[in-house]
Amino acid sequence: MKERDSKNKKSDAVIGDKSGYQHQQLCFNVDDFQILAKKRLPKDLYEYLASGSDDGQTLLENRLAFKNWYLRPRVLRQVKHIKTRTVLRFGSGNDNAHKYPVAMPLFVSPAGVHALCDNEGECATVRACFKASIMFGLSQHSTRSIEEVASAATAVSRSSSPSPLNFYQAYILKDRKRTLSLIRRAIRAGYKGIFLTVDSVRFGYRECDARNGFNSLPPPHRLVNYDVNDISAAVAAIESNSSSLDQTYNSQEKKSWDQNSEQMFEQNVTWEDVKWIKKELNEHGKGVPLVVKGIMTAEDAVLAVQAGADVVMVSNHGGRQLDGCMAAIDVLPEVVRAVNGIVPIWLDGGIRRGTDILKALSLGASAVGIGKPVFFALAVGGESAVSCLIHMLQTELETAMAICGIERIEDIKPTHVTRHPLHGFHESPIERLVRSSL
Ligand code: GLV
Repeated sequence: MKERDSKNKKSDAVIGDKSGYQHQQLCFNVDDFQILAKKRLPKDLYEYLASGSDDGQTLLENRLAFKNWYLRPRVLRQVKHIKTRTVLRFGSGNDNAHKYPVAMPLFVSPAGVHALCDNEGECATVRACFKASIMFGLSQHSTRSIEEVASAATAVSRSSSPSPLNFYQAYILKDRKRTLSLIRRAIRAGYKGIFLTVDSVRFGYRECDARNGFNSLPPPHRLVNYDVNDISAAVAAIESNSSSLDQTYNSQEKKSWDQNSEQMFEQNVTWEDVKWIKKELNEHGKGVPLVVKGIMTAEDAVLAVQAGADVVMVSNHGGRQLDGCMAAIDVLPEVVRAVNGIVPIWLDGGIRRGTDILKALSLGASAVGIGKPVFFALAVGGESAVSCLIHMLQTELETAMAICGIERIEDIKPTHVTRHPLHGFHESPIERLVRSSL
């Protein structure tokens, strides 16, 4: 990584200075956290976190596309007791063993390296999530270990109601034994489900990282889950002769850090691997649910269901993978039609307002995730700012529900959202064909 310039060094000093909870005076919406984070973080870190791939078209469209969907307010309805609480269900919904009440259908999407923004890293985020009783997704590329984050969560969960929920996110490594050992560790540590990210056989080209020379993790940060510090990881590493994953992701061989870390991933992955993970979860993983994350077409949504997905997650990786693909929210309708209620659908990408959440739920998502805003909040004020961000989105969602005449999440309907009449909106012949193959 290039030497940071003096401006960056100055910003480094500011990162730790969070004692004044400035966000309470300065942040009135999600974007305010981004503005403040940009001032506080070193340029290379900020750009690593905030950017998309190539030209950033999909990154931008993820957000702009929400503006082309319009809410349909219904008036004079009983909305005295707005409740954002809901139950996250999996598979066909008949699985009572894996059915989790949450305070709202918003979760923190798995995304790596939280400690770049706050020393407590994912432990800070999980505490904020659990205090708010929303779901937390831990990335395989976290900077606090699977077990550490689980303990931070447990400490909070005793006092929370409904009882909180964390999921672990897996990439398929070239080292498949290591992949399984990580998943088994997560399940042993109490994670209640697995996100399998399927859109990352390579990472998109993060041009700004190449320009900034951001091609390794700034010390002392590490992808700690790859550390060989417990018996099962040590055994897996010896068996597969691959103890040096940190040398791969920090090799500085390529121009951007993500391109170095992608070298650990299996490129030769197919739907058979999704079935393999599903079988693993059924046989050794207490049957915990599998969320297939990174679906952007009706065709793949059908294949994901056929491979055993308990949730299909529409995501373009926050615009960080294939630039020039559609916004997540615009893909949601075709996926909803293809899946036809067989399993729930989740989405992330571009959520910045309570109204965005309401639009996604009206279009058929059962829950939505946020990624980048969490990093911005962490950089601004650690756990306290993440709590504030979650609270802000919950309040905005409640207001949007009230003005749309909706008291409960279960009452949100497709009729609460529409396209502008000038946009045509029809099911295409290909979508019809895909749907009929289910
Ligand atoms: C990794 O998932 C990234 O988007 O940087």
